[in-house]
Amino acid sequence: MTSEITNIPTHVSIIMDGNGRWACSKGHDRLFGHNAGVESVKAAVEYAREKGIRYLSLFAFSEENWGRPDEEVSGLMDLMTKAVVNERPTFAKYDIRLRIIGNREQLPDDLVALVEEVEAETISNSSLDLIIMLSYSGRWDILEAARRYGKMCANATNEGLPIPFLDQDLFTGLLNTDGIPDPDLIIRTSGEQRISNYMLWQAAYTELYFTEVLWPDFRKNDFDKALESFNNRQRRFGKLK
Ligand code: IPE
Ligand code: IPE
Ligand code: MG
Repeated sequence: MTSEITNIPTHVSIIMDGNGRWACSKGHDRLFGHNAGVESVKAAVEYAREKGIRYLSLFAFSEENWGRPDEEVSGLMDLMTKAVVNERPTFAKYDIRLRIIGNREQLPDDLVALVEEVEAETISNSSLDLIIMLSYSGRWDILEAARRYGKMCANATNEGLPIPFLDQDLFTGLLNTDGIPDPDLIIRTSGEQRISNYMLWQAAYTELYFTEVLWPDFRKNDFDKALESFNNRQRRFGKLK
């Protein structure tokens, strides 16, 4: 492992892709790959803790993923439930706050109930925020914020108050990621070089890192390579250095 990494990103986000291909290449069904992917999640959380990464968000299931076969979707929801139950003691032990961001209306009721319990239980933990993006899409997030702004305007009008001026700060605060800094680094596994409707607003100035490694094979040394790459980036945010 490298020791020269001096610039640790505050928020790392991972598009965990390639479970299906990993499983198929081994002659198994796709759920076998999703199952194996849980081990990679554990390794990533452990690495994030070791490196002092403050926010780790993981794209686990997109709004578009609801369009997959029922068997895969329900298998993924079961897997998510099992993982939250199994990891619950880990959150307490390592001071991890769990948050789920996504369209809860689409998620199974029992999973939502479990997640809400664990979110409440871990709300004061502050070493690492583990954010699972579940039934999430960037456009959904932006639409939600727009709808909230619409409501704010309607309420203001009803009360005879001025319409709140919409600027970047106000809009950012209306997104479902309110309070979470924009990702400094997004890692995508499996060789795909696209954003797939992820964090569209938040990723405006995020550094992107793509790796051929399939998610079930992603381990600390792969994470380390991504951090090394980030360490060598020069972020300018449109200004001059
Ligand atoms: C990522 O792996 C996990 C989810 C999208 C739920 P995939 O299931 O997309 O795996 P590939 O891309 O088909 O290999
Ligand atoms: C993106 O992967 C979503 C997640 C990793 C949860 P997909 O496999 O769904 O993305 P596309 O279809 O290749 O763009
Ligand atoms: Mg995929």
